[in-house]
Amino acid sequence: MRVYIFKLIAISILFFVFCSSAPDYVPKIRYTPGPGPISSEMDKNDKGTGPITSIKPGPFDTSLAKEGDSILNVKCYSCHALQYSKIGPPLGMVLKEHSPEYVMNMIINPLGMEEKDPHVKFLITRYGSLMPYLSLDSAQARAVVEALRK
Ligand code: HEC
Repeated sequence: MRVYIFKLIAISILFFVFCSSAPDYVPKIRYTPGPGPISSEMDKNDKGTGPITSIKPGPFDTSLAKEGDSILNVKCYSCHALQYSKIGPPLGMVLKEHSPEYVMNMIINPLGMEEKDPHVKFLITRYGSLMPYLSLDSAQARAVVEALRK
């Protein structure tokens, strides 16, 4: 009987450990197979469509990133999260997959990107939703990019 109880406790502990590590799982919709190109095949030199043609991110700028974080909170996190898909794709890895110019053009000129960019067209079919024009300027988009560099 004692052995049985011991086994039961051991199994419960294992079960608990297993289950409590489960929330670490992060769904990555962007890597699942589907129609069109997947993000890992993106061309990092692609600058997208919009006013930004070339920026040179210098050393990480903490205060600019802070400004970007507050824009993300107010203007972006209703539809995006960093690590998982919401109404739109996760933003935590965008700078690993796209150039900063591409991300800034997406922020400033989503309608132009939706019309012209093949990857964004693919995202529209995948997410079944459009990113609206958010009336942000290039300085604000630059701040968001700094926040996403973290
Ligand atoms: C109303 C919902 C909504 C808001 C608000 C929104 N987005 Fe989006 N976003 C989307 C959707 C949907 C897509 C995918 C379809 C598309 O691009 O239209 C997208 C796509 C993107 C992409 C392309 C991602 C990739 O993997 O290529 C970036 C970058 C992006 N958004 C950044 C932002 C940022 C930064 C903000 C805030 C300044 C923001 N979005 C606000 C809905 C939104």
